[in-house]
Amino acid sequence: MLKFADRVERVNPSVVREIFKLMADPEIISFGGGSPATESFEPDVIGEITAELLAGQPDLMLQYGTTEGWNPLRDAYIEHIAKPKGLDFERGNIIVTTGSTQGISLSIDAFVNEGDTVLVESPTFLATLMMFAKVNAKVVAVDVDSEGMNTDDLAAKLESTGARLVYTIPTFQNPTGLTLSRERRKEVARLAALHDAIVIEDDPYCDLRYAGESLPTIKSFDEAGNVVLLNSFSKTVSPGLRVGTVAASAEIIPKFVVAKQCSDTHTAILPQAICAEYLNRGLLPGHLERTAPMYKERLDAMLAYIEKYLPAEAEYTRPEGGVFIWLTMPSGFDAQELLVIATREYKVAFVPGAPFYANPADGKNTLRLNFSGATPDKIEEGMRRLGEAFKAYL
Ligand SMILES: Cc1ncc(COP(=O)(O)O)c(C=O)c1O
Repeated sequence: MLKFADRVERVNPSVVREIFKLMADPEIISFGGGSPATESFEPDVIGEITAELLAGQPDLMLQYGTTEGWNPLRDAYIEHIAKPKGLDFERGNIIVTTGSTQGISLSIDAFVNEGDTVLVESPTFLATLMMFAKVNAKVVAVDVDSEGMNTDDLAAKLESTGARLVYTIPTFQNPTGLTLSRERRKEVARLAALHDAIVIEDDPYCDLRYAGESLPTIKSFDEAGNVVLLNSFSKTVSPGLRVGTVAASAEIIPKFVVAKQCSDTHTAILPQAICAEYLNRGLLPGHLERTAPMYKERLDAMLAYIEKYLPAEAEYTRPEGGVFIWLTMPSGFDAQELLVIATREYKVAFVPGAPFYANPADGKNTLRLNFSGATPDKIEEGMRRLGEAFKAYL
């Protein structure tokens, strides 16, 4: 009999990735993923950039590279992504990662020992909970309200647990769509400095804003150097390229470099170079401007069809961006049971909320809906089917 290591035995497979498999059934309308719209992809632009890179620098594109990342991309990130957000970095503050998933993983490698206590919003990103489970971290939930992580509760839990790491998704959070207010962003940075704690600011959705005003990053309030900022090209350019970035103090980056050398040596050069060219050609702002109205239309459609088709007792978030809406039913409701009915009988999928909780018993009556992946027509049909599934369940 095979004997596996504890670190994989104690992690359950991602329900989101399992639900992804359902998308292979063409009859199913899935609100389960977190994918950008396929209509947002620019195959012609990416193809042209790729051809030019391979023709111009084939030896560099196809060769090994440095662990820190493709320097033109580190520089382009600083110029085109960080600077417009008021952040001032040097190359030594940046490491390129294989998606921001790897940024989370390297953060844990660098800062979390087996059995350490960590603080998270509850609910939070499922993959991060899996990574914490892998190292047997003790995950403590911080209260969340309409302004995101409650900083009074954060202060109390930093004090009572002695935790030295806080993981937060401040903008259009996965899974709730909630956004941390400006004042609280400042307070998170202050508390981190006070308690000598590290904040992992995971911000892949910050540029997907369809209403309201942009907010400063937690990192922009970080005078002590305790905040690690993760960004990604997945939700803006393409998740298949698998390119993300970590921005942190020059003291932190070398530890991430060592952790990455133990993982994948370096992120593939070609996708890094594609992202660098994309930024340096000034393509990102126009792309975001073009895609925002499409996403807003999908968000508004889903909100309207929740009203029209789902039970009146459903409470839900009204995000100003990102890709998710979070739905809460009265206690006693079981979204996992609803999913079985919804997928088998009504051919519509979503993600039940429980796995996003540090304590899954807390979230049985919740579920996550993705609005970015389907056209408004598909959203209407899917929500109509979901309404039928709710009726059958209730
Ligand atoms: C909060 C959060 N962090 C990180 C990621 C991972 O993104 P990437 O594709 O860059 O690995 C996701 C993707 O869904 C996410 O929702």
